[in-house]
Amino acid sequence: MDRFVVRGGARLAGTVSVSGAKNSVLKLMAAALLAEGTTVLANVPDILDVTVMGEVLRRLGCDVVRGKATVSITVPEMPGHEADYDLVRRIRASIAVLGPLVARCGEAKVALPGGDAIGSRGLDMHVAGLIKLGASVVSEHGYLIARAPRLVGAAVWLDFPSVGATENLLMASALAQGTTIIDNAAREPEIVDLCVMLQRMGAHIGGLGTSTLEVQGVEALHPVEHHTVPDRIVAGTWAVAAVMTRGDVTVLGGRPEHLEMPLDKLAQAGAVVEPLEGGFRVAMDRRPTAVDLVTLPYPGFATDFQPLFLGLNTVAEGTSMITENVFESRWMFVNELVRLGADVRTDGHHAVVRGREQLSGAPVTAHDIRAGAGLVLAGLVADGVTEVADVHHIDRGYEGFVEKLVALGAVVRRETAPVEPWLG
Ligand code: EPU
Repeated sequence: MDRFVVRGGARLAGTVSVSGAKNSVLKLMAAALLAEGTTVLANVPDILDVTVMGEVLRRLGCDVVRGKATVSITVPEMPGHEADYDLVRRIRASIAVLGPLVARCGEAKVALPGGDAIGSRGLDMHVAGLIKLGASVVSEHGYLIARAPRLVGAAVWLDFPSVGATENLLMASALAQGTTIIDNAAREPEIVDLCVMLQRMGAHIGGLGTSTLEVQGVEALHPVEHHTVPDRIVAGTWAVAAVMTRGDVTVLGGRPEHLEMPLDKLAQAGAVVEPLEGGFRVAMDRRPTAVDLVTLPYPGFATDFQPLFLGLNTVAEGTSMITENVFESRWMFVNELVRLGADVRTDGHHAVVRGREQLSGAPVTAHDIRAGAGLVLAGLVADGVTEVADVHHIDRGYEGFVEKLVALGAVVRRETAPVEPWLG
């Protein structure tokens, strides 16, 4: 179990590059299952989740080869159709193989991922949508089993614009017979990226970037080469880091058009935000002003930014109210921030944050990717040393986090924690 040791006080300055989006590439890898042959993805981040998703595909009979920022996936004529619990529990996104497998093989057996640190994250919309497309779906012995000799297009209305359900239904309907309408669909840039790749594979999809997607199913799709969209959450993480440390950071590869809400919030906090050719710059020369925010599906304020902005508000001037609407229990990391001296109270969907002049370094634990990154940023503005444990969560989504922080001037290192002698 590695940990990051952060010494607070450094101001971040310089240029950092952002690679492809985790939440896109994992689904693009699943989409490769829809076509026999070799699909090549570029701008692939070097993160743990890509490794685990590669193993999911390998166990389905695919040949998966990682190159420098690429992954090439060769899919056999008939892939396997079963994803085991030991991998699915590591990476919930592996549920994205459900739709492609049932569409391609007529059957999919995917372990139920179970709970995690940010809420129960149900699958009811994935299941209801597949049933609408004519699949039979049962839950047996910890597995979700979907069967359909051929899916048939239908009108599907999602109760909530779920990212995962939209993706599964898009991939399933691409090979269904007839037309599928997905209404109240998620509109994230990563969904658009998946639609673009599916179109290149030969799928007929209309309404990209809107909440109504229309998919005309085709008989077969073909493999493609595709460049992954940049990671807006990672780009936003660097922007928040610049503001918290009163620094000046140029984020190369960051797309301001995917970050309108968070960059506007940073401007409200007092930062200078400047779009540049191929990225943007964020600079701050004073203590940030507290900002209120409410998380919502895209283009609303992303829930993945919530822990980062909450951290920012802990050292801002003033009191802020943060409302979490997407995940019911994304507050676990608040207790860790309190260990750093933050003044945060939560009640249901809301958190009230009273800004402090400075935090105070302490050992803390990362419970998920964004909370982990948020704790590292908090450590950057804490007095003394902050040790963040369980950083495998951060490794799941941030490529070279420590190296990039150090290049911007942070004082941080990775340590492998010794096994406690008393544990034997
Ligand atoms: N939900 C249901 N039933 C469903 C599907 C979702 O109740 O059938 C609920 C979930 O419980 C949750 C909410 O709807 O409360 C949102 O879930 P959604 O399906 O939109 O999210 P997801 O696909 O599980 C993806 C990202 C998350 C990101 C959310 C929201 C990936 C791999 N994960 O999750 O990213 O927070 O969308 O934008 O794409 C992260 O990167 O750290 C991360 C958690």
